Amino acid sequence: MCSAAKSVGSLVQVFCVNDMANHLLRLWDFDRQQLYSYINRALELKREARQGVRHHQLAGKVIGMIFEKPSTRTRVSFESAMYGLGGQVIYLSGRDTQLARNEPLKDMARVMSRYVHAMVVRTFGQEVVEELGRYSSVPVINALTDLFHPCQVLSDIMTVEEVKGDIGRLKIAWVGDGNNMANTWIQAACRLGFELRLACPEGYDPQGEIMAAAVQEAQKPITLFRDPYEAVRGADVINCDVWASMGQEHEQVERVAQFQPYQVNSALLAAAGPGAAVLHCLPAHRGEEITDEVLEGPQCCAFDEAENKMHIHKAILEKHILAEG
Ligand code: CP
Ligand code: NVA
Repeated sequence: MCSAAKSVGSLVQVFCVNDMANHLLRLWDFDRQQLYSYINRALELKREARQGVRHHQLAGKVIGMIFEKPSTRTRVSFESAMYGLGGQVIYLSGRDTQLARNEPLKDMARVMSRYVHAMVVRTFGQEVVEELGRYSSVPVINALTDLFHPCQVLSDIMTVEEVKGDIGRLKIAWVGDGNNMANTWIQAACRLGFELRLACPEGYDPQGEIMAAAVQEAQKPITLFRDPYEAVRGADVINCDVWASMGQEHEQVERVAQFQPYQVNSALLAAAGPGAAVLHCLPAHRGEEITDEVLEGPQCCAFDEAENKMHIHKAILEKHILAEG
C-alpha cells in the first residue's frame, strides 16, 4: 500500500499513485545482492522440493495472473509455485477482463489491488506493466513484455550457476534476435558483472538505450557482433530464442531468411568453449533458431531452465508478497 494511503485511510488509496517500488518490472531496478537473493532462495527451495519439504508461507494469499499473450511454462510454473507455497491463483486471459473493452489500466490496477496480494502480468507494452505498477498497491510482477522477460532470465542465470558456477567468471553469448530476452540479459550482465557477447543480424539489434546504459555502467564488456562465430568464441554459455517473438508472427517468413546464419547448430556449438552450455527459454522452433541435435544434445540445459522457472517464481512470490506483510 502506498504511504499516503497507509497514513490517512483506504479512501485516499483510490486516488493515490503508488510510490512504493515492491514490483518486479525489469532487472535494472535491482542490485547484484537483490538479484542473488532470488537465485539463492530458489536454489534452496529447489533442494527442499527434492527433499519433500512442504511450504505454507503464502497460505491465505491470492495472486491474479493477467496474461494477454499465450504461455505454457510461465503460467504453469507461477501457478504451481503459488500452490506450492500454500497460496491460490486467479488466471485471467486477455479475453477475460474489461481491459479488452478499454477499461483504463489505472482502474484495473486499483480494483485488482482490492482482491489479490500480487499481480503477475504478461502483456505487449512495457508501459502496461509500468502503468499497473504506478497505480497498484500490491506487487506487480512482469511475466514478459515486448521489452523484457525478467523472471525468465533469473531462472536462466540460476541454471547457469548450477551448471557452470559463478556467472561473474563466465562469457555468455546471445545469438539471434535482439528481443525482450536479449534486452533482459543485457541488464543482467550489467548488474551481475559478467561478459556478454551478442550476435544479431543488422536491423534486429537490442534496444539502443538499454544497450548504451548497460555498456556505460558495466564492469565487463557487453559487445554486439554481427558474426555469430565471433560472438561464441570462448563462450561458456550460448543462449538463443525464437526468431519471431509473440506478436511478430507476420514477420516470420522474412525473419527466417535474415536469421539463417544465426542458427545454433553443431558447427556453432563447436566454435564455442569446450563443454559450452546451451540455453533456450522455450518454446523452440527446431530447425530454425536451434537444431534438434543441439536441443536434444548433452550440452543443452533448456529443460532444467524450464524447471527452474518454478523455483524462481516461488522465490519471487515469497519475497514480494511477504514484504507486504
Ligand atoms: N519461456 C517462457 O516464457 O515460456 P512460455 O511462453 O511458455 O511461458
Ligand atoms: N522472445 C520470446 C520469448 C518467449 C518466452 C517471445 O516474446 O515470444
